[in-house]
Amino acid sequence: MTSCLQSWPEPIVRVQSLSDSGIRVIPERYVKGPSDRPSSVESSDDVDVQIQIPVIDLQNLSEETLARISSACREWGFFQVVNHGVSHELMARTREVWREFFHLPLKMKQQYANSPSTYEGYGSRLGVEKGAKLDWSDYFFLHYLPTSLRDQNKWPILPSSCRELVGKYNEEMVKLCGKLMKILSLNLGLKEEYLQQAFGSEEVGACLRINFYPKCPQPDLTLGLSSHSDPGGMTLLLPDENVSGLQVRRAHNWITVKPVPNAFIVNIGDQIQVLSNAAYKSVEHRVIVNSAKERVSLAFFYNPRGDIPIKPAPELVTEDGPALDSSMTFNEYRSFIRTRGPCGKSQVESLKSPK
Ligand code: OGA
Ligand code: NI
Repeated sequence: MTSCLQSWPEPIVRVQSLSDSGIRVIPERYVKGPSDRPSSVESSDDVDVQIQIPVIDLQNLSEETLARISSACREWGFFQVVNHGVSHELMARTREVWREFFHLPLKMKQQYANSPSTYEGYGSRLGVEKGAKLDWSDYFFLHYLPTSLRDQNKWPILPSSCRELVGKYNEEMVKLCGKLMKILSLNLGLKEEYLQQAFGSEEVGACLRINFYPKCPQPDLTLGLSSHSDPGGMTLLLPDENVSGLQVRRAHNWITVKPVPNAFIVNIGDQIQVLSNAAYKSVEHRVIVNSAKERVSLAFFYNPRGDIPIKPAPELVTEDGPALDSSMTFNEYRSFIRTRGPCGKSQVESLKSPK
């Protein structure tokens, strides 16, 4: 990795500190250009109410359930799952322990201040471009798999139950991702283990990013997280239970996701888009903030092992759908994203079909 990734180009400002300071006007560097503001492609309230990403009950994996997952992956790239087998209590406790973490004194959190070389720890920006517009959020990022990258000493020591809860939570996330990987493989007409093997079997990567979106005095001018597609394989998002904010792109609209209680929001990342030869879509999404409530979300990223080339499954390459011209490793791919920060889908779109 290049040396420019060793440190941030500008001093880091915690968005939470800005929010807590009581400013009425947000600094210029959080003010997005007119076309990137929340209202730019306004989806009317009617659209919000009527259209929602699919909600899928995993209790009974009937043909119908599998078919609904299949169309969600093709048409939306996003769906919510209920009856997923993960303890609701564990979900709530893990989210609340992270809320407590963000409310600890700044000095305590600063011990975990991160750098762009690994992103691990407490952070307030993605990307290292000097002078870039910034998002209205802070986060904590940690590695879980492969175990060689897992270092619990880098996870918060306080609140005292944090490390234990993160361990338990991540273990459940790995199980649920394994289950979904099988379903997606079968739905693609591949053998059950295909995607898992393509990800490197036991050597898959997994990490957790906890996003903290403080209250914002001018929510119409900024975003909590700019439009992006997730670079990895698959994401399981645990949203805040009472504050919405995630928006998913649907043609020219942004659909605000209404979280279903105790559900996870599942989305396809760029690597599964490539493996499926774009049958499954890694869809752009972003986060809006508001002036009344802070918001916490946990994004669990399930990724291919970093050093294996990711390319379309040969079975899915047809005359009508020639192979995307890519066999990049996830490590190579991610280093672009980490330099540039969130920028729509430009990265995966640049993998052009050869014809
Ligand atoms: C992410 C993400 C959405 C949210 O972390 O990649 O898209 O609602 N988060 O926080
Ligand atoms: Ni995302």
